[in-house]
Amino acid sequence: MAFPVTRMRRLRRTPQLRAMVRETRLTPSNLMMPIFLVAGKGIKKEISSLPGLYHLSSDMAVEEAKQIHDLGIPSVLLFAIPDSKDTQGSASWQDDGVVQQTVRAIKEQIPQLMVCTDLCFCEYTSHGHCGIIHNNDVDNDATLKITAQQALSHARAGADIIAPSGMMDGVVTTMRSALDENGFQDAVIMSYAAKFASGFYGPFREAVQSTPEFGDRRSYQMDPANGHEALREVALDIEEGADIVMVKPALAYLDIIHAVREKYQMPLAAYNVSGEYAMIKAAAAKGWIDGRRVMLETLLSIKRAGTDIIISYFSKEFAELYRKGAVEG
Ligand code: PBG
Repeated sequence: MAFPVTRMRRLRRTPQLRAMVRETRLTPSNLMMPIFLVAGKGIKKEISSLPGLYHLSSDMAVEEAKQIHDLGIPSVLLFAIPDSKDTQGSASWQDDGVVQQTVRAIKEQIPQLMVCTDLCFCEYTSHGHCGIIHNNDVDNDATLKITAQQALSHARAGADIIAPSGMMDGVVTTMRSALDENGFQDAVIMSYAAKFASGFYGPFREAVQSTPEFGDRRSYQMDPANGHEALREVALDIEEGADIVMVKPALAYLDIIHAVREKYQMPLAAYNVSGEYAMIKAAAAKGWIDGRRVMLETLLSIKRAGTDIIISYFSKEFAELYRKGAVEG
């Protein structure tokens, strides 16, 4: 029955009524926190393009991981800048590489924390592309071969979840069979299934020095205009055996997140990427927006769209507020 019988404002009158009918709730258990690793010892250096985030050496990363775990965040996502880069990104599959060492150290000291590794080559290649270059483009199948090596090195180190982010065709099949053949049946694959060629990765590329030396990533990452293609990408990764599928970036792609949620019964992750973080931080620093409020609203929107796991640079900040009771729940 319409007005005056139905009054939508009736349930908005008090904080308690609002809490009773709140449809979406965000808790630290929804979040995954990225960590940026560098070689060395005792290093903790703020990343200029990502205020509040740091380049950490392995020992410092373990301390950071402890804090993250204590805040109730169940998982971390590891990235690294290697000491040396080459055309193949060979530093990415060394058993004593920065990522591999850190996975081992975290699993030794905080075994309950789920460790996810980003599997890609752009941080490790001298040209900054996500694989092996032939004729000025990334060679898909040649890249798959070294992908298997990198996946195995992460699994040997003890990674719980491996997340291929290079958008190579067949990457999930390649990883699944390499992992299974080597006794890593339990290693989870979280595929960057629908990853768009996005301007929102700018601050990340500065943080890991992975801006391509020539060209761009449009021959492997998706055209931002394409929603149906995103669903096909997700379908393929499910068929290939992905355990969790991801949409990236999040904010400009909430429609894609929602469509994937409606269509597939799969655990769904979304990456609230560096540019999304930087925009809020920058506007808040200028005093143009209330940074805390906009952060909460942003994370909530990603969850409401249908996400199970949100990878966000805000994870720690959110969890700290949550612990203080400053998040409406
Ligand atoms: C590696 C990778 C990227 C991001 C995550 N993994 C960068 C890229 O594709 O250029 C971006 C994350 C962010 O912007 O926060 N391929």
